Amino acid sequence: MRVLTGIKPTAMPHVGNLLGAIEPALRLQEEHEAFYFIADYHALTTLQDAAKMRQYRREVAATWLALGLDPARTALFDQSDVPEVAELTWLLACVLGTGALERAHAFKAAQADGREINVGTFLYPVLMAADILIYDSNLVPVGKDQKQHVEMARDMAIAFNHRFGEVFVLPEPLIRDDVATIPGLDGRKMSKSYGNTVELWLPEKQLRKKIMSIVTDSKGVEDVKDPETCNVFALYKLFGTPEQVAELAARYRAPGMGYGHAKQALFEAMETRLGPARARYEALLAEGTELDAALEAGARRARGVAAGVLARAREASGFRRAPRLPIP
Ligand code: TYM
Repeated sequence: MRVLTGIKPTAMPHVGNLLGAIEPALRLQEEHEAFYFIADYHALTTLQDAAKMRQYRREVAATWLALGLDPARTALFDQSDVPEVAELTWLLACVLGTGALERAHAFKAAQADGREINVGTFLYPVLMAADILIYDSNLVPVGKDQKQHVEMARDMAIAFNHRFGEVFVLPEPLIRDDVATIPGLDGRKMSKSYGNTVELWLPEKQLRKKIMSIVTDSKGVEDVKDPETCNVFALYKLFGTPEQVAELAARYRAPGMGYGHAKQALFEAMETRLGPARARYEALLAEGTELDAALEAGARRARGVAAGVLARAREASGFRRAPRLPIP
């Protein structure tokens, strides 16, 4: 089994990325071969600032390593270090009708907002299919918002195989129910586009401030409260131990607890989980050579697999397995 997933470097990673994708993916690296990458080609559809691109790309890479990606067993790499992906995007684009892309959630949302849409945004699902199929990936751990994209990748594999023979492995999304959609500060899906994210590596003081800004109802200290409808508790459930979660739930249901107390408990639970990794994150970014070594080794492995799968797809569709001239 090969597991693969990607994160776009459009900002510092947030708690939704951590719980929805990074932690599930890190658990899978224990038992499976894993390829995790920084989706910088995808980021270019919205982030068109070279300095920020360089910065966020490193931040995402450092995040994976700080949280426990083991570069000796798991390949960590930049998407753009495997340009074969762009070539495969073209082969896949030619077996796909435009209707499927017009129905894609992200495209429809951009259209509904009246945003100007570049061709890259329209082709986004094809690039993502190429990302997945070029590594013969079996499992793709993602949050629920990416489910449609993985299903589209599967459809493109089926369409290509139908025309040209069994070239691609059919991938499956892996979405854990408990972390399918992590809520943000206002209770909607945590997302950069809603401005409701909690970034992973905020300094302690800023993290506390963010948590204190979580939206709650206006119940006072003496009112009993429902933990199940509270945005603070929704996050606490994911950071506290089962005993801590049960204890805080009981305090919600009795008079005498204000939301400030619940927020402080959430802050402490997050700090316990993220504090040690934050120090490692900062050291990785400041030092740099460990990060570069991991990304280079990862790119080498990923590219080896990608070249083989691309050669298969080229040959099946009537091209030479490799271009006549080697890459200079
Ligand atoms: P991106 O960068 O938006 O998000 C990275 C991962 O984090 C998950 N996620 C969430 N999960 C639960 N709750 C949330 N609030 C939340 N917010 C984000 C996402 O579902 C995702 O798993 N198109 C992808 C990147 C990509 C990719 C791929 C992923 C490119 N190629 C191939 C998998 C396989 C994206 O924009 O994710």
